[in-house]
Amino acid sequence: MTVTLIATALTACGNDPDVKLQPARKGQITIGFSQIGESSRWRAANSRSIQDAARIQNVKLIFSVAGLSQQKQIADIEAFISQKVDVIAFSPVVEAGWDEVLQHAKNAEIPVILTDRMIATSDPSLYTSSLGSDFISEGISAAVWMKNEFRTTPGPVNVVELSGTPGSAPAVQRKKGFQEGLGDANKFKIISSSTANFSRADGKKVMAGLLKTHDDIDVVFAQNDDMGLGAMAAIEAAGKKPGKDIKIASIDAIHDGLVALENGKINFVAECNPLIGPQLMDLIQDVFLGIEVPKRVDTRETVFFPENVKQYLNDREY
Ligand code: AHR
Repeated sequence: MTVTLIATALTACGNDPDVKLQPARKGQITIGFSQIGESSRWRAANSRSIQDAARIQNVKLIFSVAGLSQQKQIADIEAFISQKVDVIAFSPVVEAGWDEVLQHAKNAEIPVILTDRMIATSDPSLYTSSLGSDFISEGISAAVWMKNEFRTTPGPVNVVELSGTPGSAPAVQRKKGFQEGLGDANKFKIISSSTANFSRADGKKVMAGLLKTHDDIDVVFAQNDDMGLGAMAAIEAAGKKPGKDIKIASIDAIHDGLVALENGKINFVAECNPLIGPQLMDLIQDVFLGIEVPKRVDTRETVFFPENVKQYLNDREY
């Protein structure tokens, strides 16, 4: 729905008791969006999806990129408040430390939508809605795959976890989901849990170090594909076969991750879908109209195995 149609929608839903209407807003909707950074194909696809959807919906988008700095994100949000944008949306680099700036947005009566990652706050009134992946489920599905994959192995099964940006929602919640998914399956021993910052280079470096000190690693849980691909390269460089000598489960489903899955070098990938632009624009349109929106909207996602990956590879644009 474009802004041209908003007036019609206002009339159409005027008698619905579930719909809270604000006075009609005229003109183009302006959104301020603060992106974490542009450090990976996943993130670039996420930015592109939001920018394309804004263009299609005729929404004015002020888009800033924070280079993984929370301080810069806070400054960007303060700037959006000064510019009196209609809606603020952002993907928080870490969970904690947003209350003050979000209180400023609330005082200015600017609704805030969290995208991709959640914040940790004791005051949920500081944001209107959050849209993103269920990171806990992603961690659980990696654990469920692992339990099935090693079901006939007596154990111990030595697991290495490569985790993302410390303090970020996906790092915290994927770890939680993974532990929850393993449950009381005590044959799985997490012999190392180290950050590799969601980065392919760091994944390779950290894994290379671990391979020097541990000759008994059975499986890697990489909290994203980039770290999984880095680990894969380190395993090959150490003269072992990734996917066979050391198995790998990862999260995201970027093209390179799915290729490695098809080639048997990664064994399992849970999807974390970055293409949330259309869902975000729908939410923003509703917020602009004063329609009550759900506090939480999950992104649609699936999981991939070597057996089902081929059909998805050609269409993977990121
Ligand atoms: O917040 C989504 C996560 O952040 C993705 O898994 C990862 O690739 C990115 O850095």
